[in-house]
Amino acid sequence: MLPTIRCRPAVRISGFHPGDPGIYDLESPDFNCSLKDIKSGMASSALICETEPWKDLRAHVDDIKKTHLRELMTDMERCQSMMVDFDGIMLDYSRQCATLDTLNKLNNLAQAAHLKEKIDRMFEGERINSTENRSVLHVALRAPRNSVINSDGKNVVPDVWQVLDKIKNFSDRVRSGAWVGATGKALKNVIAIGIGGSFLGPLFVHTALQTDLEAAEFARGRQLRFLANVDPIDVARNLAGLDPETTLVVVVSKTFTTAETMLNARTLREWISAALGAVQPTQSAVRLQILACNGPPYLFQNHVQASPGFRPQAVAKHMVAVSTNLTLVEKFGIDPNNAFAFWDWVGGRYSVCSAVGVLPLSLQYGFEVVEKFLKGASSIDQHFHSAPFEKNLPVLLGLLSVWNVSFLGYPARVSMESNGKGVSIDGVPLPYETGEIDFGEPGTNGQHSFYQLIHQGRIIPCDFIGVVKSQQPVYLKGELVSNHDELMSNFFAQPDALAYGKTPEQLLHENVPHHLITHKTFSGNRPSLSLLLPSLNAYNIGQLLAIYEHRIAVEGFVWGINSFDQWGVELGKSLATQVRKQLHASRRKGEPVEGFNFSTTMLLTRFLELHHR
Ligand code: F6P
Repeated sequence: MLPTIRCRPAVRISGFHPGDPGIYDLESPDFNCSLKDIKSGMASSALICETEPWKDLRAHVDDIKKTHLRELMTDMERCQSMMVDFDGIMLDYSRQCATLDTLNKLNNLAQAAHLKEKIDRMFEGERINSTENRSVLHVALRAPRNSVINSDGKNVVPDVWQVLDKIKNFSDRVRSGAWVGATGKALKNVIAIGIGGSFLGPLFVHTALQTDLEAAEFARGRQLRFLANVDPIDVARNLAGLDPETTLVVVVSKTFTTAETMLNARTLREWISAALGAVQPTQSAVRLQILACNGPPYLFQNHVQASPGFRPQAVAKHMVAVSTNLTLVEKFGIDPNNAFAFWDWVGGRYSVCSAVGVLPLSLQYGFEVVEKFLKGASSIDQHFHSAPFEKNLPVLLGLLSVWNVSFLGYPARVSMESNGKGVSIDGVPLPYETGEIDFGEPGTNGQHSFYQLIHQGRIIPCDFIGVVKSQQPVYLKGELVSNHDELMSNFFAQPDALAYGKTPEQLLHENVPHHLITHKTFSGNRPSLSLLLPSLNAYNIGQLLAIYEHRIAVEGFVWGINSFDQWGVELGKSLATQVRKQLHASRRKGEPVEGFNFSTTMLLTRFLELHHR
């Protein structure tokens, strides 16, 4: 049963209390005392929505709603001041439903939210993730070797670079064939097992780098695949065509306890063991292996969790790990010498610049390519930390998001993270929304699917991201425009189509039949922003990643929430654990399904019955 605690005015806190009736009202006289105490503690914290700049922006909404983007776009001075250039990236936010006055008011809101102080506190390693008592230092993961970033009075940059050096060394050996598999063959294929932040960031960078000619050249003859979902179909798809003899498995898990990742890791451990366990390494393979390890191989075997099919010698050569929990890595049977650490101060969803992304990507593309990606991200970090707000890309993007979500009431955005909270960082229920529903599509695929909705249906602010130079300039003889020109034509046209729309007068002028006028009318006045990058290489991908990471932080800082924890995700995980225990008990001991609501009991019972037939 999933009860809901209702706090006035309009806030929900969800929890899991089997057997509990469900709806709570903290104002109710018979409500239990401890929750009342919580509420009185809340009262002392001020919310951003109670400040003058917030109220001022609320009042300003009416002015803006009266003004169409068609008019706003005629003001050259406004448009000019809404274009910002940094390190090759051009941001044009003139198609936002905002005036220069709106920007001033947003700047006042940023002051009221102490945005600058909060950014500084993040860079200074303060424990701003207060609910988990952690610093938030993903910026240290890409800081230059000689920089100083402290967490608890300790400079973490040398630790970062120790791991980066270890990754470079290991990936160079794998790529050059100095590190070989159990049968002495070079490892050409990598399967990275991980989920959530231990998957999506690396997948994004891999997807982008695959198209960069220079990076692709370094990946020639190699394959990188990602296994996240626990569905056996995904395991089968991932393994299709792969030979265990030439495959390296990287288990990526911050906690090394995530159910899906650990199950997939055990499956692949069996796959490796079954195929290669009987094979004794050749003399030369053993020699190379010893050379490649930083310490004596196989020492860790005593700590390995019992598993019938497990073959330590094969696993030692075909499985490595990325984690903050090196004890569990060793228990699983992976040589600690082949484990790549990261730290508590790296949020799972901000971890792509740690070994989480750097290891699999370096194995595929080489460390040098990945280093460029880190440099791109670092460039944006420095900009975010020091540029004035009116020229600061992540700050502008963040403030505009707050404007769109909290004031204009646009709930989605065509573009991941830990925003979307019901309470402030002090635990106070929030009477405003703190996150968008992000989605997107590459190129004109979106035009041929959901763009109908964004043009004539709901108002969904869009980010258009384009590059000046394509990674693959394909010219057909005799064609005036390249594929890239065609693509970019849409990049330039769509924002205007959204902003201006099309009026009935224009349609009449075009001799559109009367009965089609309403169908073909576009209201316009739909906000978007455009980011134009010089090209899509490792460096620019790093920049893009950091812009979007910091935008999330800016939104969270202004809304007064914690953008770095994710308790909401935990509820599903704990319910799945309860179901997993039930399935186990029913299968092994024939125990009946109990402790669930009627619907889940029926579904589980059917699942168990049919599964046994
Ligand atoms: O479910 C979300 C999450 O906790 C992410 O933050 C994390 O990246 C992912 O699960 C996987 O967790 P782990 O890296 O510990 O396996």
